[in-house]
Amino acid sequence: MSIQWFPGHMHLTRKAIGERVKEIDVVIEMLDARLPGSSANPLMAELTSGRPTLKVLNKQDMADPARTALWLAHYNAQPNTQAIALDASNTAPARAIIDACHHLAPRRGGMVKPMRVLICGIPNVGKSTLINTLKGKRAAKTGDEAGVTRTESRIALADDFYLYDTPGMLWPRIVVPESGFNLAASGAVGKNAYDEQEVAYELLALLKADYPALLEARYKLGRAPEAYAQAHEEELIEAIGRQRGALAGGGKVNMQKAAELVIADFRALHIGRITLETPEQFGRWMKAGLKS
Ligand code: G4P
Repeated sequence: MSIQWFPGHMHLTRKAIGERVKEIDVVIEMLDARLPGSSANPLMAELTSGRPTLKVLNKQDMADPARTALWLAHYNAQPNTQAIALDASNTAPARAIIDACHHLAPRRGGMVKPMRVLICGIPNVGKSTLINTLKGKRAAKTGDEAGVTRTESRIALADDFYLYDTPGMLWPRIVVPESGFNLAASGAVGKNAYDEQEVAYELLALLKADYPALLEARYKLGRAPEAYAQAHEEELIEAIGRQRGALAGGGKVNMQKAAELVIADFRALHIGRITLETPEQFGRWMKAGLKS
């Protein structure tokens, strides 16, 4: 079974983004650095084709730095695209964003041709956090200046630099099952859309292959990395549940509770900084998904 995710109606959002993009110089696409490929909505590429794009890999503090570097290189090699990694603890992201946009649209800037930037991202990717940080900085700087226009959807980052929020809701779109599981593990899709045990199995399948040392450091099962790689996910969940006291009656492990515990540990960074997909893996999933 894959993730049963039926997002809200995208028709209006699609139309609104399509309209707005006509007056936009650069599109900022916010992605979750732990799952950059899966947290992108494929609709964006279609609606913004041709527009210079800044990919912001947010939550980099939660992601594997080596894999973030791979994703940055992957996006930076694409035409008309630049990528930067950010996190909420970065209190001055505006400079990096402004610089990257000027690099992408060098002819824009100045009062006559101000830079117009649209910021998009699926829910939970950190868009409000970033917008609030940017707003806060600007408000602190220009709070008592007259004439600073700031409507709900338009934020002036500088006198000649306007940031527009996405009109409508950009839901994640699950193109391949692997993306669905990664989105579910990250918390980007609703709880009703997935089965925790299934998501925990898929999560452990990735972790035992790529991050066995982190699993051992967290759960202390006394196993070497190769032993994790060889273990079946169900057996691992059971061992973790037993170790952490997720028990049902009769000394049995409560597998549901154990699965929830692993997912919660991943989300809370208790297992460590993890990125669930590399550009190469994601490319492979997409190829296989499109063929089938
Ligand atoms: P959205 O507008 O795209 O839906 O996302 P939002 O900013 O609401 O962020 C979703 C969650 O992700 C929030 O946590 C927020 O604090 C967290 N977050 C955003 N950016 C970062 C980041 O760069 N690093 C980390 N570690 N977390 C980030 P929450 O638990 O939903 O709320 P709260 O903890 O802020 O109360």
